[in-house]
Amino acid sequence: MTLFVPAIQRVTAEAARSLVPPLVELLRDAVSDGASVGFLHPIPDAVARRYWDEVIADVAAGSRVLLVASLDGAVVGSAQLGLCAKPNGVHRAEVQKVLVHTRARRHGLGTALMARLEEEARAEGRTLLHLDTQPERAAEWMYVRLGWIWAGEIPAYARTPDGGLHSTIFYYKLLHP
Ligand SMILES: CC(C)(COP(=O)(O)OP(=O)(O)OC[C@H]1O[C@@H](n2cnc3c(N)ncnc32)[C@H](O)[C@@H]1OP(=O)(O)O)[C@@H](O)C(=O)NCCC(=O)NCCS
Repeated sequence: MTLFVPAIQRVTAEAARSLVPPLVELLRDAVSDGASVGFLHPIPDAVARRYWDEVIADVAAGSRVLLVASLDGAVVGSAQLGLCAKPNGVHRAEVQKVLVHTRARRHGLGTALMARLEEEARAEGRTLLHLDTQPERAAEWMYVRLGWIWAGEIPAYARTPDGGLHSTIFYYKLLHP
């Protein structure tokens, strides 16, 4: 049996800059598989690169945590925490772009990324996590399995990569000290 044990790292902005090409490919893979993660299919290269450049700028500014999972030198997953900077919201963070490459799914990596995000959130003093996701897809099933709490649904919130409108569901999780 082949062991599937990716290394998950919280990356600095400098380290992330050298990972932009595989991160672009990871995002492309998710979108071409139908995930509604902010983009339409196909993503123009410049749009995908600009997205990661903005993420990296946030990491450099300290307003975002970026995790990258790799296996045998290849990027197989990623996840982010947007750290709320508002003076009345520094206890919360938003889970964003939890991505596992289609080649690497259903081996527990999504779960491992979520656990590490929680660790990083605690280290940042964040006690409330929230996210939104398209219903009835793998991500929602994973969040429910991990004990996230349903907070509500907004219809016609975003478009799928092929352009159809879908609702989004908000979930939250309280991190107890
Ligand atoms: C959501 C995602 C990150 C899950 O990654 P993963 O590594 O496959 O997740 P795990 O292996 O840890 O699965 C955890 C649990 O989630 C549920 N799950 C995940 N994928 C599922 C699927 N295709 N069908 C049904 N349940 C699923 C299962 O309960 C699973 O546990 P099990 O395998 O023991 O049954 C991955 O499917 C993905 O990248 N999707 C596209 C991007 C996306 O939509 N991200 C979320 C944005 S909000």
